[in-house]
Amino acid sequence: MSEESEGELEARLPEGESFEPPESFVEQANVTDEAIYEEFEENWPDCWERAADLLDWEASYDQVLDDSDAPFYEWFVDGKLNASYNCLDRHVEDGRGDEVAIEWVGEPTEETRTYTYQELLDEVEEFAAALRDLGVEEDDVVTMYMPMIPELPVAMLACARIGAPHSVVFAGFSADALATRMNSAESEYLVTCDGYYRRGDPLDHKDKADEGLSGVEHGVDTVVVDRLGDELDHDLDDEQHDYDDLIDEHAGASVDPVTRDAEDMLFLMYTSGTTGKPKGVKHTTGGYLSYVSWTSHAVLDIKPEDTYWCSADIGWITGHSYIVYGPLALGTSTVMYEGTPDYPDKDRLWEIVEDYDVTQLYTAPTAIRAFMKWGEEYPAQHDLSSLRLLGTVGEPINPRAWKWYYKHIGDESCPVVDTWWQTETGGMMVTTLPGVNEMKPGSAGPPLPGISANVVDMSGDDVEPGEAGYLTVDKPWPGMLRTLYRNDERFIEEYWQEYSDEGTDEWVYFPEDGAKIDDDGYITVLGRVDDVINVSGHRLGTMEVESAIVGVEGVAEAAVVGGNHDIKGEAVYAYAITEDGYEGDDDLRERIVEGVEDAIGPIARPEEVIFSPELPKTRSGKIMRRLLEDIANGEELGNTSTLRNPEIVDDIAGKVGED
Ligand code: WTA
Repeated sequence: MSEESEGELEARLPEGESFEPPESFVEQANVTDEAIYEEFEENWPDCWERAADLLDWEASYDQVLDDSDAPFYEWFVDGKLNASYNCLDRHVEDGRGDEVAIEWVGEPTEETRTYTYQELLDEVEEFAAALRDLGVEEDDVVTMYMPMIPELPVAMLACARIGAPHSVVFAGFSADALATRMNSAESEYLVTCDGYYRRGDPLDHKDKADEGLSGVEHGVDTVVVDRLGDELDHDLDDEQHDYDDLIDEHAGASVDPVTRDAEDMLFLMYTSGTTGKPKGVKHTTGGYLSYVSWTSHAVLDIKPEDTYWCSADIGWITGHSYIVYGPLALGTSTVMYEGTPDYPDKDRLWEIVEDYDVTQLYTAPTAIRAFMKWGEEYPAQHDLSSLRLLGTVGEPINPRAWKWYYKHIGDESCPVVDTWWQTETGGMMVTTLPGVNEMKPGSAGPPLPGISANVVDMSGDDVEPGEAGYLTVDKPWPGMLRTLYRNDERFIEEYWQEYSDEGTDEWVYFPEDGAKIDDDGYITVLGRVDDVINVSGHRLGTMEVESAIVGVEGVAEAAVVGGNHDIKGEAVYAYAITEDGYEGDDDLRERIVEGVEDAIGPIARPEEVIFSPELPKTRSGKIMRRLLEDIANGEELGNTSTLRNPEIVDDIAGKVGED
């Protein structure tokens, strides 16, 4: 971490500012007793039975935690359950079949769909029967490449029902990204759609899926959802099946949920890491589902009668845990929105909150910064008094954005939970309990009960309050990833090697985030300390972007860093060296941008491409990324005397902002 970012943070965080949880909230909150922290600590790991108790188990577990093969921990050992049963059947059996499971809001304002628990269960069973007919067996990985349409959670739950792990690829990712993930998981099934709407225009998705499929090394059966009707027509080949036809063929089918072991895989989710290859994070049935249910209960305060809305995309972990699995396991109504916050106008989200009487809203700091920029008049046009709790996730939230959210959306009567977690942690790890703790804008809060997170220095010793250090977690938790798919070695290398003392079997998880802690144990997360940048709350590996750029004809070398961005938090800054015979001109710049979009997707689009004859390097030949970051941020450049080529720095700095 640079001193600069430390200093910036210091300046942003006024000492001592805090807010008590609103009384009206506390009176009705799911968790209100602060003794829960002590209770969990004293009874660890048995305290986690409280999470498991939120589920229905076919066979109870014999052991809460098996740590005999750490860090390959096992939770709720020998317990048996089915995730789709827990998210659907049990609520119907409780006589709640007519209550709303999913409120789907399409991008076109007139297009909405409501699924009751009974309706959702019926369609899940029908699609589960169809998948089986296509040949899907237990433990086969089924890939989904879909936008925010109801068939996505239907497909996920249908997979869970028959014990086939899903691997959802964000619809905004490129064809190449889809192919890489399908090849890596050897996934022989794909569920996708014809297209979807973006700001009023139909967007072709199937062409992209087909292009991805052409890069898959094995045969694939594909199911295509017809989202756009007559708006877009596609031909299906022999291995492609129309979703509606399959549902019709299996109308009224009943498919019993298969009995899954607690440790059986529920899904895979690929995420970016330090190296160029995305990592397949493996989550299991018992631990994950218990953990997301527990955190949905304790942090999001979800109750069955709520209409809860997480505005993330299901293609990311936030959508898996807190649009689909957590909320449905608790039997609430979960809102799914297809469109963007500013279409047809910048009050769209507030209109939805008002129309549906949304009780909790969980969104990202990048969205809040955009709302702030658009102005408070947009939320002011709507009655937002149904809201009871607000949440954020994905990146650090600056105190100014926090306070704006608290005031203009929550009317100073909703607690704000700033939740730190990751794809790998499965669910929230560091956040206030909204009915218990005071809130400090800019600081996520203490670790949740039962979570042993610390801020340490490079040798693993606790840092003093206020000092910058590294976030670590030194006890396992039920929602944790179990491994990287088919790569146990990389699992250890990526997460455990840095801080664990293998000799004494003390395993410490390293999330690769910088942090600091205050006297009350509140943790402020400073951001990634690896080569991952966080653009609008989305994780991007700089190596992935660099290898896309180097793949463009005419580029000899590239370095990618994150630069500050008002709305996105961080943006991609690409520095490129041209090959002999090529000019660093607009044509090449355009091809670089296209190359990145093709390899990853528009989210990775460089904010700027800066051409340079050389990159600043140390005498040992390492690229000085820190310097490139400072250049991107227009910051004063420190000492460059350790460089092999100090003269290049001014040259590059002069070019930033040119394109
Ligand atoms: C960052 C998203 C600060 C962090 C759930 C983490 C945050 C990465 C916060 C994980 C927060 C997430 N405050 N930083 N409240 N939440 N992050 O895997 O750097 O997409 O490591 O999971 O986002 O991103 P991922």
